[in-house]
Order: sequence, then structure tokens, then C-alpha cells
Amino acid sequence: MGILVKDLELNYRSRGRRNKLHDFQALKDVGLEVHDGEFLSLVGPSGCGKSTFLFLLAGLIRKTNGCVEIDGEPIDGPGLDRGILMQQYALFPWRTVQKNVEFCLEIKGVRREERSVIAARFIDLVGLRAFSHAYPNALSGGMKQRIAIARALAYDPKILLMDEPFAAVDEQTREFLHEEVLRIWKATKKTIVFVTHSIDEAVYLSDRIAVMSGSPGQVKEVIDVDLPRPRLKGITKSTPEFAAIRLKVWNILQEAGGSSGLKLEELIEDSAGL
Ligand SMILES: Nc1ncnc2c1ncn2[C@@H]1O[C@H](COP(=O)(O)OP(=O)(O)O)[C@@H](O)[C@H]1O
Ligand SMILES: [Mg+2]
Repeated sequence: MGILVKDLELNYRSRGRRNKLHDFQALKDVGLEVHDGEFLSLVGPSGCGKSTFLFLLAGLIRKTNGCVEIDGEPIDGPGLDRGILMQQYALFPWRTVQKNVEFCLEIKGVRREERSVIAARFIDLVGLRAFSHAYPNALSGGMKQRIAIARALAYDPKILLMDEPFAAVDEQTREFLHEEVLRIWKATKKTIVFVTHSIDEAVYLSDRIAVMSGSPGQVKEVIDVDLPRPRLKGITKSTPEFAAIRLKVWNILQEAGGSSGLKLEELIEDSAGL
């Protein structure tokens, strides 16, 4: 059981000149399986259809053709079995941290006392108890993203869909959030589909990486990340095994189009900083 995607095609329809309708094929022949409890990353150049793919899994947009199933059931709309986390934290500024985390529980119809207990538990899990009664504008970007994680987890979705969730935070915060996500993943046993354009991030976090190419978006290859867990900050990334997997992903991206937007110099720069 898990997520099954086969022969998926997604066309965006828009109006061009003289009001003429035309279709843009964003995804074509996409195939992918995500196993229960797995941490799978989607890596690919900007514009290759990563967000589109995630929105389809979230049920926010509809496929044009093909099969997208969760546990054997076709996806037809959003559901509380999936939580989605985006780059922009999308917290409600007029609600406190506690009330933000309670939001989906309200929708789910959970009673007030129970809501409050559950929200407090997840705020604890992301280490922000002291800020329960603060409003989002009092928090740093990294803290807001932790609250967004708590909110996405509080209603207990089976699957967590994350769209470049750490792209907007600084390097140090990002590293901290990597550890947080791995810790939370271990504690909650969620299935995670994690979108990123950072090869390093994908290798460090994932069980497997689906490498995408663009125009139209396709999954080129899925590779195993057989690095032992727990992964250790500062150690895992400096192992030859890590470097080998990173190079493998990079090579697939190059073969897939050459215009991956990820340059070897950047890759080397990245590793120099480790
Ligand atoms: N609503 C839309 N209408 C038309 N084209 C879109 C729409 N959303 C995205 N696209 C196009 O689909 C392609 C994939 O976009 P997206 O999924 O956002 O890529 P990524 O997340 O990998 O950067 C891009 O070429 C983008 O311009
Ligand atoms: Mg995107």
C-alpha cells in the first residue's frame, strides 16, 4: 500500500492571444510508487513539474490522464489523510500559534478540550511550547515553518507532502529543520514526499530519490539512498558514499536535459562548505 502513480499526464489549459485556449503539458507518462512510511524526495530543475505533481497528490488539481491512487483508491480532491506544507508557511496571522495548529482539528470536528491537548502535543514536538500564545508575526521564518509542520501533523495525516519547505529559511535554520523533520518522521512514521531542488538535501533526508526532468515533466529514474540511519550531521555528508549518490543524481539531471539549473561548480562549492 502507499501512493501509486501510473502514466500520469497533466495539461494546464490557459487562454492565449485572441482568447484562444491552449494546453500546456506539464507532466507526461509519470510513474512512481511511494511506499508506506517512506521518505521519498522529488528532485528536478525549476519548472519541471514538481509542485504540479505534489498538488495532484494533494488533490488540489486534477489529472488529465492516468492513475493516481492512495492505498488503491483514486485521489479525487483534498483529504485529511494528506497534509501539505509549502515554502510559504501560510499561517493565519490573526490566530495564535496554538489556534493555528488547532485549525484543521476544528474542521475535523474535534472537541475543544481534545483539540487543545492535541495541538499542545505537536507544538511540544516541534519545541515551541513557549510560543503557544504568540502570533505568527512574532516568530522567525524557521519557527513559522516548525509551526506549519505541527499544524500539518496535528490532524494525523498518513502522508505529508512538502514543497520546498525550507527554501525560504537561512542555511543554519535549514540544517536544524532537517534534523527536526528526521526526528519527527521517525517519531510519527509518516510517509513523506519531499520536493526540493537541492541534491544535498534530498540525499541527506531520503530513503529514495525520484529524479525528474522537465518539458514535459517526467520521472527519469528513482535511486536508492542506502546510507545508514540515523544520519549524522557533519559526518554523513562527508562520507564517500554520500558523495557517490550525490554525483549519481547530478549525472541523471545532466543527462535528462543539461539545463538542470544545477551547476557542478555549485555542487563543489556546497561540498567545500561541509
Ligand atoms: N496554473 C498554471 N497554468 C499554466 N501553466 C502552469 C501553471 N502552473 C504551473 N505551470 C507550468 O507548469 C510547469 C511546471 O510548473 P511547476 O509544477 O510549478 O514546476 P516546479 O515546481 O518543478 O518548479 C512550468 O512550466 C509552469 O510554468
Ligand atoms: Mg515548485
